[in-house]
Amino acid sequence: MVVGPGALRPLVKKIAATGARRVVVIADAAVAAGPAAALGAALESAGVATTTLTVPSGERAKSAAEVVHLWEALAEIPADRATHVVAVGGGVVGDLAGFVAATFVRGLPVWQVPTTLVAQVDSSIGGKTGINLAAGKNLVGAFWQPLGVACDADTLATLPDREYRSGLAEVVKYGVILDAELFAWLEAHAEKVLARDTAAVSRMVVRCVDLKARVVEEDEQERTGLRAILNYGHTVGHALETLAGYGTLLHGEAVAIGMTAAARIALATGRWGVEPARRQASLLARFDLPLAAPRGLPPIAAADILSAMVRDKKTLHGKVRFVLPTAIGRVEIADDVDAAIVGQVVADLLS
Ligand SMILES: NC(=O)c1ccc[n+]([C@@H]2O[C@H](COP(=O)([O-])OP(=O)(O)OC[C@H]3O[C@@H](n4cnc5c(N)ncnc54)[C@H](O)[C@@H]3O)[C@@H](O)[C@H]2O)c1
Ligand SMILES: [Zn+2]
Repeated sequence: MVVGPGALRPLVKKIAATGARRVVVIADAAVAAGPAAALGAALESAGVATTTLTVPSGERAKSAAEVVHLWEALAEIPADRATHVVAVGGGVVGDLAGFVAATFVRGLPVWQVPTTLVAQVDSSIGGKTGINLAAGKNLVGAFWQPLGVACDADTLATLPDREYRSGLAEVVKYGVILDAELFAWLEAHAEKVLARDTAAVSRMVVRCVDLKARVVEEDEQERTGLRAILNYGHTVGHALETLAGYGTLLHGEAVAIGMTAAARIALATGRWGVEPARRQASLLARFDLPLAAPRGLPPIAAADILSAMVRDKKTLHGKVRFVLPTAIGRVEIADDVDAAIVGQVVADLLS
């Protein structure tokens, strides 16, 4: 794991040191000319033959068709077990290239170079890879751990503002579920974070990577339930994201609304107080994230959100599980929340 400005240089050294005969860089079109090209050139100068395959930007690239396309491109090179894959892009390319690496010739070593905030603090860590089907997001996939992850804060400079702020929702999430100190640090350094100050962003990313890695280490394959705490804000968030139509609300925006829902449920069930709920709301607002369904969204009924939550693939035996905060930095899992409370909170957020 390498985090910090200039993180690509040590990555090249590490890859070269493995004796990899060839590298296939799979890059999002948005970063093909920037970080991906720089990485390709650096690998070549380190004596590693490099081929770059470019993938169109956007969630639609996480498809079976794109997987076949990449498998065929790898076969044509031809790639073999001494070929390493390096994913350069956001969560879409990380998930897609990771899945292609997990499956081609039964597994090629993969490295992740995340270039969105979501990918740096979340999707590149933990080894989950996969693609979407028409029937649902992330329905096909594999656990495939990368050999290494390189997060360079400077690669975020070109990221659209809305994408960057969407990633901040996941950062706030780590603070609420695990790390009161990170939360307080975000409150104190919000300006620098919003300005994408390299030192501040690197520090924030290191902390999040560490928190996620610790959770994943203890529950790599999602068996003990510990990993479930990472779903804070995602129960209502996912349902809202799906019902609004993908792309209408960015994932982090839906999660911000979902965290607000969870905070209100925690308040209504006596788990935490008004003050931590206010701090969460004010930090999210500071990052210009929505606390309720924004105007202009197609009309969604609370009942539709409730049934989408029951259908979610993370729901067990029809019981909706909520991750609810009990303090800033601490959460518990509840699967017995009164449906009337959930219904009321969701209706309030939609009105
Ligand atoms: N595997 C996991 O554990 C995990 C966790 C969270 C999310 N995900 C997945 O991640 C995906 C979302 O990731 P995302 O938010 O990074 O989306 P994304 O990969 O679509 O990137 C967002 C947008 O930013 C562009 N982009 C990427 N890097 C850029 C840069 N440096 N400069 C300018 N533009 C850039 C992309 O082209 C895209 O348009 C979803 O498919 C989600 O399912 C996976
Ligand atoms: Zn998320």
